[in-house]
Order: sequence, then structure tokens, then C-alpha cells
Amino acid sequence: MIDHIRKLILEAKRKADAESGSNVEPQFAQKIDWPVTCTVGPGLEGAIACESAVGYVNGSAGKLIYRGYDVFDLCAYSTFEEVTYLLLHGELPTEEELDNFKAELCRRRHVPRTLRQLMSNPIEEMNDMAALRLGVDFLRRTHSKVDTIEARPRSETAISSDEDSIPMEKAPYGEKKAIYEFTKNALGPNKPVDLATCYDLIAAMPTIVAAVHRIKAGKLPIEPHPDLGHAANFLYMIRGEKPSLLEEKVMDVALILHADHGMNASTFATMVVASTLSDIYFSIGAGIAALNGPLHGGANEAAIKALQEIGHKDNVRAWLDGKLARKEKIPGFGHRVYKAYDPRARILGPLAKELAKEHPECRTLTETAEVLEEEMVRRFGESKGIFPNVDFYSGLVYMTMGLDHHLFTPIFAVSRVAGWTARTIEYLENNRIFRPRAVYTGSFDKKYKPLAER
Ligand code: ACO
Repeated sequence: MIDHIRKLILEAKRKADAESGSNVEPQFAQKIDWPVTCTVGPGLEGAIACESAVGYVNGSAGKLIYRGYDVFDLCAYSTFEEVTYLLLHGELPTEEELDNFKAELCRRRHVPRTLRQLMSNPIEEMNDMAALRLGVDFLRRTHSKVDTIEARPRSETAISSDEDSIPMEKAPYGEKKAIYEFTKNALGPNKPVDLATCYDLIAAMPTIVAAVHRIKAGKLPIEPHPDLGHAANFLYMIRGEKPSLLEEKVMDVALILHADHGMNASTFATMVVASTLSDIYFSIGAGIAALNGPLHGGANEAAIKALQEIGHKDNVRAWLDGKLARKEKIPGFGHRVYKAYDPRARILGPLAKELAKEHPECRTLTETAEVLEEEMVRRFGESKGIFPNVDFYSGLVYMTMGLDHHLFTPIFAVSRVAGWTARTIEYLENNRIFRPRAVYTGSFDKKYKPLAER
């Protein structure tokens, strides 16, 4: 089974290489001398926020790289645990390192106190992402002493923690070490983030997501299974039964594919909070909040709804013509960075079809997806660079595994926490608080009118 999945992934890689190659985009893949000049669009489009060796999204070649490794190879040969280790530590683990890392994660999956605190809240009235964010907050209380005065990061050793006091008309010139306010040493012994805390979050978030899901369905949470890997245990805690080998592998691949993706909105939100030397739990809470938005984490639900609305492969063309005539966007297609085929969709597409063999009830949806993809690529692939994105197939994959659509975005968070933590650790090595400026377009010199005269 694993060999068969590997073959499908390597076949997808071969297609990607044949269609788009792997030339890097020089502006986004070389060391830079700060300050940097770049053209910035609304929403900070095109802005370079930092340097990073964690990962690279090659939008024109349709490639995704984690720490130098092609995500196609990571999906074919490794596991989510291996990839998480790679993202956090910068290198692939040795066998011994991987065994230790897996044992660390396994031990940290158990968060009974957090679950108890969570269950004393009206979770059934909450959105799953809101409950996850609350769970992370309870994790913070249980796992850390960050609320004690002694544990606060020492702001007095920082050169400046409040940029409002600094005139920012000029770009920050000077030596690299002068640019950054918080050096490694300034963080002192009470760092706002350390590896152990990242392990805690990566290990515990699946437990929280699964528990919330079960509680909302009127069921009791399930103890983590010590013999199962990260992906299999996650599915087990959600469904209460061990997944098939195929389901385990596909979930593992889906987690690898969502683990990191450049300076996306939730990663940026995480890093902005971390850059204030707040702690990693608050930072991850911000990431979860940002991911909750439909423009970021929620498009796979919309893609599934569209497929359900179409109903059958024979209805695709008429449905599509209607949508396009009304100038509506087709969910699961197009991407701000990828103007080639999204490598994550290239992998998840064949896996969705493979899963549908085990779950015939989902075959109609999968066939409908196939025809919609063909039609969209034929109409807009070459001409506009619009191809399926990760969300087109991820929802289908999860649905085929019997996972409720409320779980789609939390699953994304369970994976992306690897990238959030890896990038935060990296950024804090040479931290500088994020502080862009806004252009003021209001008026000046208005005269204050007393309330009675207004
Ligand atoms: N369906 C139809 N046409 C599209 C689509 C689509 N899904 N996406 C882009 N286009 C067209 C636009 O209509 C526009 O055409 P025009 O030049 O004739 O006006 C052109 O392509 C450029 O569109 P923009 O919206 O400017 O492209 P941008 O790069 O800013 O948008 C985005 C990317 C937001 C993802 C867009 O493609 C979209 O809304 N897709 C649907 C929602 C979706 O799938 N989101 C998930 C993204 S992946 C993720 O977040 C994990």
C-alpha cells in the first residue's frame, strides 16, 4: 500500500517537473542586504517581511520546499513527525533522534487537565477553531509559568520594545546586529518560546481538536493511542477506531502538505504576536484566529459545497458556465502565489481518487471533481495561470475519510502549527518587532466642538 501511494506521489512529481521545472524566483530566494527595496501592493503583497530558511514557495514553478527538500519527496518517503523535526531543527533526524522525538510527542499528547478545563465551557456552542484557541489558552496555563512576574521576558535588556517612540520616517539602516532589537542574549533564560513548548503544542493540538469534535457530537473524548503515529492517532481520537493503512498514509501526507507555506496570513499573525515577545501560546492563538477566516483556512469547505451542488460529472459544464457568467469565483481554484499547478493539489488529487476506491459512496463527488478540474484547466490554466489549489482536494480527502466539514480548518491548524512554531523560533533568534506604517488619509487641524454644539 505504502509503495503504491509513493508511486502516485512520485508520478505527480514527474508531472510537475515536466510541466513547470524548478527555476527559483531570484527576488524571493537569495540573501538580502537590509534595508530592502521592494514594490508593495495592498495587503502587503510583495513586501519582504524577513529572511527565512524554513521553507520556500515557488509560485511560478509550482514547487514547495521545506528546508531544502522538495515536498514531493517528503510526502513520498517521510512522515509528519520527520517533517516537523526537519522544520523545527533544520535537519532531517537520525533514526535515534526520530525515535526520541516521536516518544516526546507521544508523551505530550496527554492533556487531561486542559480537556477538563475545556469541558467546563460551553464548547457545543462554539466554532471548533474558537474551542481550539481556548484549548491552547488552557494549555498555556497548565504548561507554563508565563503569568508569573519572574517569567516575563526582560524588556529592560531590549534596546527598544516600543517603536512608537522611534521616528520611523527612515528605513532602519546600520549593521545587522544594530537593526535587531532583541538579541539571543537579551531573551535571557525565560525565552518566550523554546523547543519543548513547541513540542507541547504540536502534540496536544490534535488531542484538543479531536476532543472538541467528539464533545460537540455528544461523545466522550478518546485517550491518545500510544502505539499509533501522529496522523493515525489523530484519526483514531476523532473516530474512535484505528484508520486503515491507506487512510493513515493519506492523513500523514495531508499533514505534511499543510505544515508550512511561506509568509501566509496565519504564519504572519503568529510571528507578529511573537515579535512583541509575547509567548508562543498567545502567538499560536493568533495563528489559529487568522486561519479561521474563509479567505485562508476555509476554502475547502466551499469547494466541497460546490461539488455537492453540481451533483454529477455531467452537470459540470452547465454549472460552470452559469458561475462564470455571473463572474463568480470557483472555490478551490487560483492562488495568490502559485501561477502553476499547486503541488499540494497535484498530490492530494490522486490520493482522493485512491481513497474513493475504499469509499464508493464518495465516487460521484470525486468524478465530478475530476471533470471540473479538467474544464477549469482547459479554460484558464494556460491563459490565466488558474489551477486547482490545495483546498480543491483536501476537503474531498477528509470527507472521504468520513470527517465532518467542521474539522477541515482545525486539521489545517494541527498541521500548520509545525510551520508557525518553526518560523517563530527562527525569527526570535534575531527579533525585531513588526511595525509597518499606514499612510494617513484623514484631515488635519479640525477644531474640537463641545458635545452640546454637535
Ligand atoms: N475562479 C474563476 N476565476 C478566478 C479564480 C477562480 N477561483 N481565481 C482567480 N480568477 C480570475 C479572476 O476572476 C481574475 O480574472 P480577471 O483578470 O479577468 O479579472 C484573475 O483570475 C485574477 O484573480 P485575482 O482574484 O486577482 O487573483 P488573486 O491571485 O488575487 O486571488 C485567490 C487568489 C484569492 C485564491 C483567488 O484565486 C480565489 O478567490 N480563489 C477561490 C477561493 C479559494 O480557492 N481560496 C483558497 C486559496 S488557497 C489557501 O488559502 C490555502
